Amino acid sequence: MKIRRVACIGAGYVGGPTMAVFADKCPDVDFCVVDIDPEKIAQWNTDDLPVFEPGLLEVVKRVRGRNLSFSTDIDEAIDSAEMILLAVNTPTKEYGVGRGMAADLKFVERCARQIGRAARTNKIVVEKSTLPVRTAEAIRTILDSCSNGVRFQVLSNPEFLAEGTAIRDLLEPDRVLIGGDESPEGAAAIEALAGLYERWVAPDRIIRTRVWSSELSKLTANAFLAQRVSSINAMSALCEATGADVDEIAKSVGMDSRVGPKFLKASVGFGGSCFQKDILNLIYLCRHYGLEEVARYWEQVIRLNDYQKRRFSKKVVQTLFNTVSDKKIAVFGWAFKKDTNDSRESAAIYIADDLLRDQAALQVYDPRVSPKRIVHDLVSVKRWDDWDRPALPEDEIRSRLTIHDDPYAAVKDAHAVLVLTEWDEFTGYDWKRIHDTMQKPAFLFDGRNILGRKAMEDIGFCVYQVGKGTPDDAASLEPWGR
Ligand code: UDX
Ligand code: UDX
Repeated sequence: MKIRRVACIGAGYVGGPTMAVFADKCPDVDFCVVDIDPEKIAQWNTDDLPVFEPGLLEVVKRVRGRNLSFSTDIDEAIDSAEMILLAVNTPTKEYGVGRGMAADLKFVERCARQIGRAARTNKIVVEKSTLPVRTAEAIRTILDSCSNGVRFQVLSNPEFLAEGTAIRDLLEPDRVLIGGDESPEGAAAIEALAGLYERWVAPDRIIRTRVWSSELSKLTANAFLAQRVSSINAMSALCEATGADVDEIAKSVGMDSRVGPKFLKASVGFGGSCFQKDILNLIYLCRHYGLEEVARYWEQVIRLNDYQKRRFSKKVVQTLFNTVSDKKIAVFGWAFKKDTNDSRESAAIYIADDLLRDQAALQVYDPRVSPKRIVHDLVSVKRWDDWDRPALPEDEIRSRLTIHDDPYAAVKDAHAVLVLTEWDEFTGYDWKRIHDTMQKPAFLFDGRNILGRKAMEDIGFCVYQVGKGTPDDAASLEPWGR
């Protein structure tokens, strides 16, 4: 099948950048991104894109109006395309069976029904969203039962891009995975999609699998990555207790070619829309199939991550003489990692929530996350293992929270400054000036280990870094003695 037009449902962090790069690399194919959110679509049609990603605007400007369009006319986009990508969100289910664990497939199901109704010619439907294993089968059943006699092929083509490096990841993927049906029609659909990727990806990097292997590969990849972060974070707690340095350990362990150096950076805990959601989904699947030991193995990766976030906020409270009540605490960084305006599941949300419950006065600064989003995150905070715990009331949050667009204003009169995202700009600040405006002793909690400890101590800060405590450091953080 010759692909002339591709539609993508979902103009989010995955759909937008993915289609922009496809359009750039396949100038003879038209790409249309549609979404139910008219505001988001309107924003994609301006230069103030809803997604902040380094390099994205340049690509969008090159292709928008040429062979990339953004629209709210979902039916039209479906009907005129030969291939339809599903890139809608699949959050953790918040109600009923599987609440707090399973993926909520209501958006995917709604889209499948809409495709079934709107399609008047045969289509290839591609799952881009992360989905539980065997979802393709469910999509196929829905499509077949609500279609008007047209035929569908369902492929799984999981997206492995990481936010903040999405454009590079799309241009130079480690691999492209396409799962499909083993029938001749299935094989032809796989080749149609592979044919688009082959414009810029080396053929040996394009892997063809059964659809279920493809679906499960995505969950497995995210579980393994999250597990590495939890592994190094587990060692960070032990380093603090024993006086070792977690970054030195990561360097030495990472030089073992069997382990490799990536994803070994100790932190305040992983965040993002995928890791926790996908592992919860994996745990739910394991329990469904009666694999309790496997479920518990993966559950510990999330529990350790919760521990790491809680450990950090506890450290702040304990260090500030066991109370942060009405103390100004500056928070640098709200995004779940640098170079994105996304804060879904960011460790900052949970640390801020803990500190607000301890009555701190938070002064937040992030270069990209909007104030509206920060308040929304706190008002709707949910803990996967305590789903019914209510968030703090909005008026209480607002009375204790100030959001700044100037980092130096955020630290004025603060007792402590917390670095929760590894934004590059933080390392270039005038930390002497920051120290001068803070209350004394001035505490610095570097949750990303991006600031030079010695330089900060020379300025006069009492410094905590993740996985770098020594008995001496601990004593210096507790000036009233141990
Ligand atoms: C993606 C994947 O799709 C998800 O499975 C993965 O785990 C995380 O990344 P992402 O692009 O980050 O999701 O989500 P988001 O930025 O929330 O974008 C999804 C878009 O789909 C939203 O703009 C939403 O309005 C849209 N949507 C949702 C529809 O157009 N139709 C719907 O029925 C539901
Ligand atoms: C992840 C996967 O990497 C990507 O392949 C998949 O498609 C979506 O999920 P993303 O969540 O965007 O991507 O970012 P990632 O770079 O994986 O970081 C996730 C979290 O782990 C961030 O909070 C990050 O700060 C944290 N992290 C990562 C660490 O704490 N230490 C590390 O060494 C690496």
